[in-house]
Amino acid sequence: MDKIAIIGAGAIGRLINHKANPLHLWPFIDLRNKSINISTLHTLDGHTKQQTCIFLADVSKIDLLIVTLKAYQVLPTLLPLLGQLKHDAKILLLHNGMGTHLEIANKLTQQQTLLLGTTNQGAMIVDGDVHHTGVGDTYIGHYCGPQVPTHYKHSLCQQLDANWTENIQQNLWNKLAINCCINPLTAIFNLNNGQLSAPQFYEQIEHICYEVCQVAQREGIKLTTNELVTRVQKVIELTASNSSSMRQDILLGRPTEIDYINQYICACAAKHGIIAPINQALVTKIKSLHI
Ligand code: PAF
Repeated sequence: MDKIAIIGAGAIGRLINHKANPLHLWPFIDLRNKSINISTLHTLDGHTKQQTCIFLADVSKIDLLIVTLKAYQVLPTLLPLLGQLKHDAKILLLHNGMGTHLEIANKLTQQQTLLLGTTNQGAMIVDGDVHHTGVGDTYIGHYCGPQVPTHYKHSLCQQLDANWTENIQQNLWNKLAINCCINPLTAIFNLNNGQLSAPQFYEQIEHICYEVCQVAQREGIKLTTNELVTRVQKVIELTASNSSSMRQDILLGRPTEIDYINQYICACAAKHGIIAPINQALVTKIKSLHI
């Protein structure tokens, strides 16, 4: 059995740790927060489950490292660890936003595999406990390094309650578009996700999606503005009572993932010689909210 560890004790990391099966075989590490010894999960059906967290100090024993840190924590945390990982370790990045994979991929050995994932699971931490707030899909796919065998894909997906895709970039871009709209708008206007269904936001969401599409198409991703707008509206509806992660970050005075969301769009746009003014304006506004 592979030794699998999760780094990142946020809501998604701890939700995965609880759901992973069989639980006791999965060491949970969080090199950033050794104070969590017991993790409590409040399930969707109102039950409570507890789990002891095991801290695995020796990174060189890990076969698969699942990274559920915030995007801006990924490089500073992971780069110093890469040299200590097994020569054929696998890394799965599972966070909002895009961009960290480019730098990590450059630093891996030829035998190490980088997997990317995205999830729509809803989870929140309230008073130190994880609350599973909404069922969602999780997709995982290969990015670089040796391919993983079919049986490995099946068992990983079964344990993480995820789906394997041969085109993870498509899923990542879909999620990126959702985050490009919902996260900055809810943070700037201090709204729950559902309040973005008000007519005054429709045009802005359409413009953001249009820019994301222009950039995505140049990156070889097939998306249309209409399908993205429909997807965004659907997520707004499904997560109506959620307070987005960026809104929470702003309210709590924490750094945001803006550099890996709207700023990633602006950087890709610049690379292709186009502009993304609406996304750029959102980046500027979010950065101005930090005192
Ligand atoms: O970042 C978030 O909050 C979530 O990814 C999403 C989908 C916008 C729901 O709140």
